[in-house]
Amino acid sequence: MTIEKKMPQNATYTLAQSSNFLPLTAQLYDLWRERSLSLLTRENFSLEREFALLSEWIQPQTNQTFLDVGTSTGNYARVLARSGGMVTAIDISKHMLEKATARGNNQNIVYEQANVEYLPYPDSSFDGIVVGASLNEFHNTTRALEQMARVLKPDGKLFMMYLCESDTGFGRLVQAPFKLSGVRFPNRQQVAQTLQGLGLQASRAEVRRAIAIELYVKTEKPLETTQAERTLARTAGKPAREPIA
Ligand SMILES: C[S@@+](CC[C@H](N)C(=O)[O-])C[C@H]1O[C@@H](n2cnc3c(N)ncnc32)[C@H](O)[C@@H]1O
Repeated sequence: MTIEKKMPQNATYTLAQSSNFLPLTAQLYDLWRERSLSLLTRENFSLEREFALLSEWIQPQTNQTFLDVGTSTGNYARVLARSGGMVTAIDISKHMLEKATARGNNQNIVYEQANVEYLPYPDSSFDGIVVGASLNEFHNTTRALEQMARVLKPDGKLFMMYLCESDTGFGRLVQAPFKLSGVRFPNRQQVAQTLQGLGLQASRAEVRRAIAIELYVKTEKPLETTQAERTLARTAGKPAREPIA
């Protein structure tokens, strides 16, 4: 299976992102992934339970198109493809994508090496976008959310699972050293505010300790002011919104 390369020329990557360029990270990734939610939530949170939630909330249909952002070894992509829908699964790491394709040829999945902050797809391309823990790694969270909102169709669904900013002082202390390497712990309120400004409304959420699983629906076109904000920001060379830490 060929993996098309659609990477931007001048993107910069954090240390956390760069670790995914190593073959060893891709080799060991599934070992961590199988146990990650149980370890982080300190309850029995199997992959099967997570995938059931993904299917129940997204309700994938045969004639629909999906984008799996930061797919790694293709976990979410395979769940969505079972419905018969077409999935584009992207990652910046060639080794992760090679591991995903090694798990079997699935005619309903196209793997592409691409960066969410520079999505190479037209506006309103996808019925659903899924993001499993990748929000914790994007260089610029706000820019990634803007890009995802852009390529999502009206009424489209955005499913995200991520480690959010801890609401305790001790929790934030534990998260601090990881932040130094570029790992993000997005604040849930800031994510909601940013997405609301882009025309997406919160629909469902489950929070287990620092793990947030959220569903947003694109209910309206982005506000007029959003475009104006973007133009202003572009001409001033600044991000369109306050960046999410
Ligand atoms: C924690 S893993 C998520 C794995 C997968 N979604 C899952 O549920 O198993 C994060 C992945 O996001 C990818 N990634 C990081 N920054 C990215 C970006 N800007 N665009 C696309 N993928 C990115 C990394 O290479 C890594 O494979």
